[in-house]
Amino acid sequence: MDTFEAIAGRRSVREFTGEPVSDADLDRLLEAARWAPSGLNNQPWRFMKVQDRSTIVEMSNMSRYRGVIAGASALIAVFLDAQDIYDRTKDLMSAGAAIQNILLAATEAGLGACWLGEILARRSDVEELLEVPDDLELVAVVAIGRPTDRERAGVRHPMEKIVVTPPAPRTRREP
Ligand SMILES: Cc1cc2nc3c(=O)[nH]c(=O)nc-3n(C[C@H](O)[C@H](O)[C@H](O)COP(=O)(O)O)c2cc1C
Repeated sequence: MDTFEAIAGRRSVREFTGEPVSDADLDRLLEAARWAPSGLNNQPWRFMKVQDRSTIVEMSNMSRYRGVIAGASALIAVFLDAQDIYDRTKDLMSAGAAIQNILLAATEAGLGACWLGEILARRSDVEELLEVPDDLELVAVVAIGRPTDRERAGVRHPMEKIVVTPPAPRTRREP
């Protein structure tokens, strides 16, 4: 699969077949995350593979997206590590880049994935459940599974809305 095909063809998957996702598959997604860019190359991200069914179910009860989480075969919890952060905006962007790499690698592997942010409303409950050290701050959860077989349409703003016109070229002033 070429890169653009993965970028444009990736969709959020919220319904899964329930088939297992192997540990090797998850490691491949994390390998993709590891190669994301980060400010100063500080790599502030940390990841936890959540594969235990009862933990997944408990997490599902902490979100409005209960069905997406409970239906997933695995979750990847994404954290920022206070030991390695330097600028909140840039660190969050770096974590976002890592998450996008996970989603793209999942697409290439024929897996379905969905980036979940709403669960952050229960951030401290999730952190407690996952018994993470105080230095780790949950920034997202990614639900992963085998996608059910159905069309998933993508909707995007037209190019004219997202591309801002630059100022007219400046004319050189005579000295
Ligand atoms: C920061 C962020 C938070 C998101 N949180 C959720 C969420 O809590 N639940 C959910 O179902 N989808 C969530 N999504 C997925 C978006 O809804 C989805 O990416 C968007 O609708 C575009 O659809 P597509 O990913 O299929 O192209 C989130 C995406 C991002 C980037």
